[in-house]
Amino acid sequence: MLKHEVFQEIVGARRAVRKFDDSPVSAEAMARILQAARFAPSSSNLQCWEVYWARDKERRSAFDDACLGQAAASTAAELVFFVSRPDLWQRNVKKLAAEFAGTPGAGYYADALPAAMAAYSEADLSEWATKSCALAASQFMLAVSSEGLDSCPMEGLNPDKVRKLLSLPTEAGITMAVGLGKGVPEGLYGDRFRFPSDTQIFEV
Ligand SMILES: Cc1cc2nc3c(=O)[nH]c(=O)nc-3n(C[C@H](O)[C@H](O)[C@H](O)COP(=O)(O)O)c2cc1C
Repeated sequence: MLKHEVFQEIVGARRAVRKFDDSPVSAEAMARILQAARFAPSSSNLQCWEVYWARDKERRSAFDDACLGQAAASTAAELVFFVSRPDLWQRNVKKLAAEFAGTPGAGYYADALPAAMAAYSEADLSEWATKSCALAASQFMLAVSSEGLDSCPMEGLNPDKVRKLLSLPTEAGITMAVGLGKGVPEGLYGDRFRFPSDTQIFEV
């Protein structure tokens, strides 16, 4: 199979599947999936996102409950939360400035980027961090698909409950939860529907 065929198959197989069977996700698969998420691009490579993997069995039902009791969470073999951290941009820009000190790009992280970002409003920063976080979640779900597994993104959740369970500050954005595992047929609500491509793709 050509690379593009493999990729299109992975993309095509990813659906939002809302119910899973009891099959576990292997530790090896989970490690590959998480690694793929980390390789997602991020704005200025500031990587202001985190993923919280709800592994603690005792707290799992509280996490499911924070996802409004959706079966996509409660039946999922694994449940993760993608969290945007606009509040960490200054910490990360300093780390990158140190990492690239003495290289041609050093000034970008030491001076230009902090100056530009200092002008961002709280809303700008939140939107900025959410974009990169969502890309990581997307890459995560494609990696799930590449393992022959299923996933469901969920923004139907209670962000305050999630922040509390994870001891996160109010600035942390709960971008989405993702449940994953082996989907069951009734977890798929219908055929894939998309609007015609000429309503979304414009050659200009
Ligand atoms: C950011 C985001 C949030 C979503 N939240 C939920 C959710 O809370 N519950 C749910 O059942 N599906 C949720 N979905 C899944 C969408 O409904 C689904 O992706 C869409 O209907 C397209 O179907 P497909 O993913 O199978 O192509 C969410 C999707 C995205 C991208």
